[in-house]
Amino acid sequence: MKRRALASLIAVSLLPASGAGHAAPAAVSARPHRVTFDDYSFMIDGKRVYLWSGEVHPYRLPSPELWPDIFQKMKAAGFNTASIYFSWGYHSPREGEYDFTGVRDLDKLLDDARDAGIYVIARPGPYINAEVDSGGFPLWLTNKPVKNRSPDPAYLRLADEWMTQIDRILARHQITDGGGSVIAYQIENEYYKGTDDGRAYMQHLEDKARADGITVPLVGNHDATFVSGTGAVQVSGWDYYPQGFDCSHPEKWKPAPNMASHKFAGEPLFTAEFQGGAFDPWGGPGYDKCADLINDRFANVFYKENIARGATAQNFYMLFGGTSWGWQAIPQNYTSYDYGAAITEARQLGPKYYEDKRIGYFLHSTAPLLKTKASAAARLDNPELVDIARTNPDTGTQFHLIRHGDTTATSVEQTHLALDTMEGHFDRVPQAPGTAITVDGRESRMLLADYDLGGSRLVYSTSELMTDAAIGGREVAVLYGRPGTDGETTLTFASRPRVSVLSGKVAQQWKNGQLTLDYKHDGIARVLIEGGAKPLLLLLADTPATRRIWRQDTPQGPVLMLGGHLLRTARYDGNTLALTGDNADNPAAEIFAASGTSITWNSATLPTVATPSHSVTVTLPIARAITLPALDHWQTHTGAPEIERGFDDAGWTIADKTTTASITEPGSLPVLFADDYGFHTGNTWYRGHFTADAHQAAPTGIYLKARSGGPAGAFSVWLNGHFLGSLTGNEERSFGFPAQYLAEGDNVVSVLTVDMGHEEDYNSTGENRTARGLIEAKPIDAPANAVTWRIQGATAPDALRGPYNFGGLYGERQRWPLDPGKAGAWQPATLPASDPGAGVTWYRTDVTLDLPRGQDTSVGIDITDPPGRHYRATIFVNGWQMGNYIAGMGPQHRFPIPTGVLDPKGHNSIVVAVWKPDASAGGLGTVSLVDFGSVTTPSRSAP
Ligand code: GAL
Repeated sequence: MKRRALASLIAVSLLPASGAGHAAPAAVSARPHRVTFDDYSFMIDGKRVYLWSGEVHPYRLPSPELWPDIFQKMKAAGFNTASIYFSWGYHSPREGEYDFTGVRDLDKLLDDARDAGIYVIARPGPYINAEVDSGGFPLWLTNKPVKNRSPDPAYLRLADEWMTQIDRILARHQITDGGGSVIAYQIENEYYKGTDDGRAYMQHLEDKARADGITVPLVGNHDATFVSGTGAVQVSGWDYYPQGFDCSHPEKWKPAPNMASHKFAGEPLFTAEFQGGAFDPWGGPGYDKCADLINDRFANVFYKENIARGATAQNFYMLFGGTSWGWQAIPQNYTSYDYGAAITEARQLGPKYYEDKRIGYFLHSTAPLLKTKASAAARLDNPELVDIARTNPDTGTQFHLIRHGDTTATSVEQTHLALDTMEGHFDRVPQAPGTAITVDGRESRMLLADYDLGGSRLVYSTSELMTDAAIGGREVAVLYGRPGTDGETTLTFASRPRVSVLSGKVAQQWKNGQLTLDYKHDGIARVLIEGGAKPLLLLLADTPATRRIWRQDTPQGPVLMLGGHLLRTARYDGNTLALTGDNADNPAAEIFAASGTSITWNSATLPTVATPSHSVTVTLPIARAITLPALDHWQTHTGAPEIERGFDDAGWTIADKTTTASITEPGSLPVLFADDYGFHTGNTWYRGHFTADAHQAAPTGIYLKARSGGPAGAFSVWLNGHFLGSLTGNEERSFGFPAQYLAEGDNVVSVLTVDMGHEEDYNSTGENRTARGLIEAKPIDAPANAVTWRIQGATAPDALRGPYNFGGLYGERQRWPLDPGKAGAWQPATLPASDPGAGVTWYRTDVTLDLPRGQDTSVGIDITDPPGRHYRATIFVNGWQMGNYIAGMGPQHRFPIPTGVLDPKGHNSIVVAVWKPDASAGGLGTVSLVDFGSVTTPSRSAP
């Protein structure tokens, strides 16, 4: 019921933004919508739409209350679409079991997207890759000897089980005949097998989707593989990561691709995944470097290049990366999946966000861009630069991308254009003597000509258009350029208009029915032009000033705001304009809205002062300073009773399997692979028993080989409680048994292993079934069967937190992160710790937070170490496993903890399990809370 009612409301915001240059949305209705496409673009109800899309993963933000935050931040930057993977394994703890509740509530997720005015490209797999454990395959699939990603009936039966579940949800959120905003559905992921088998598999998934009621277009990211024939998708998408994934040298660029050569007739040019950042490996340079590599200049050059090549649907992977919390990461990657994306893991806005916003606003304002053909380049007088031009065949509007011939060049260049417009030929643009178009290194400029600027005719501008909006009977347009560069804008009028320079320095000239304005981009200059179809207010901004320019669209027309940290929503309620948004430390803001409206900001009425620009100025509340409490009163508890000879392992699983579904060949029998005994996450313990007495000689040692996956692997070995050694990386070795450690009767060798995640299955070779844990154990100087093994890993998953949250450490099996048990067993501790031996030690503390209401404070946990420490830490906050840290390897030291997991107004429990693999002095370093940013925000409980 509720969902239906909301649907009619939401249809409002889902309609494309109304630019001044084209008609406002037609009457709003809750009727089903049509999604179609042609050679130029996607269309919704026959209306062309630019899909400006960002990738987000619900399983990387375990806080449903923050999902609207991400979608609203996207919408505020002009994104109208989110591309979303759905991870099978995240929803299926066991074969035949599916969970869509709590942090897995996809109905809420899809409602949140729709409510924010965000279309969804749904990507349910069954295989998704995504640097997530097993590429999204469930953990239990590690024990199924099926041919993944193929028409193998045994695989399809399981995959179909997932598709049935996820399709049922997606179907009811389709824009076509559900109540939501799903506009497209991706089949599989980067599947390039154009063989008969591959085609049969794709066709099966497509038939299944249709049978399950999927009615939106079926799209792909398979490059040119499934364009026609069996298994063809309707719209082929391309995945492109031009800079690759080594963030160590962010200044080194590779050139921009020409996506035009990847266009298929009858389909819009769609980049299903275009680089929005990069993942970073254990020991890598860190995500700040990835944000540098794929920075705002990258967005400026590469995303505009795609526009100039004709793309009308661009998705950026990632737009918000989030956290591979629990044991969701693959072996190569650490917990953070920040990705250097436009919205950081801690939900902060980076410089790329603002570049995405400038481009996004432009795309939604310039309707003629949705139907263009490549056209003749303008002549430039600087050979270092080129023009890549497109023209709309119906309106004649021209788009010129001026950039370096070499997209990696760093020189600053100046040029003039020879431009043919509907108003005649211009031999040299800009015309004003001594001025030029400046193109900085790694910058491109998208210039417009022959454009209808809200009833006024823009002949050309050497400033870029950010947005134009019909507000209160006038047209308000934002044109921009880098600070200090020249701008020239020429408009044509039937008769000389009245021109008032309201602020800034702008020269004007009236000649041959054309008004030419010349200025330098510097702050925001304002020019009011009256006498055309309607008054035109030009805001001539420099690029930094555009950061604080926000636009929202309502059924009553657009709203512009200059100021604030973020404008989330705008809604007219009679004569009141209700705005919601965030603010940091600058109270000054100006709002362009329908005249005579009163304004509320986060539900509080704001006094307004009218300006000569027909806007109002307001004063926004600013954020209060935050002081986070220190983390002290630590307690500690030993955590590896399994190493003791007398530990009771009677309840453990006996290793007795002689066959396996793994693709790893067992080095010895019985099979010791952790997955084969149902232990799929984090640490798994092994206890090997052997007898030493007068009749039976004890082995003199044992040869062990483990597989943790990747460079961050490790295992440690004890004999009867005595530490024998640990290995990292190179995971095989013989461990001798010193005679003094041996005992009469039962002896126990204890082995602590870790599964750093299962491999993805990119090439469908069953790589998710690469073994984890011990893969070979051979007693030395004793028969193979001299040692019998018992295994214990993660116990049944916690229902709320799901299958990836806990591993199999003793304290995890006892659920210490949820309930530390008897306080007496924990001893007071101070950090940094100085634990002497190798082993597992737990630490815990509680912290009460009282952060300001009405403020969004992004908090994280920071670990710092004295040099030379070697240990591994697993961090739990209120029971949620939010990070794996490896001292000395890194690079991650800071772990954002989303509100919802963290209680900003209450008690929080922080529990850290530490595995120290050697006997050097050390242990957990200093642990503190860190503030990633704090802004005023609308109360989440507000209607
Ligand atoms: C693509 C893949 C994504 C992700 C990305 C790299 O090839 O489709 O799932 O793995 O690479 O981050």
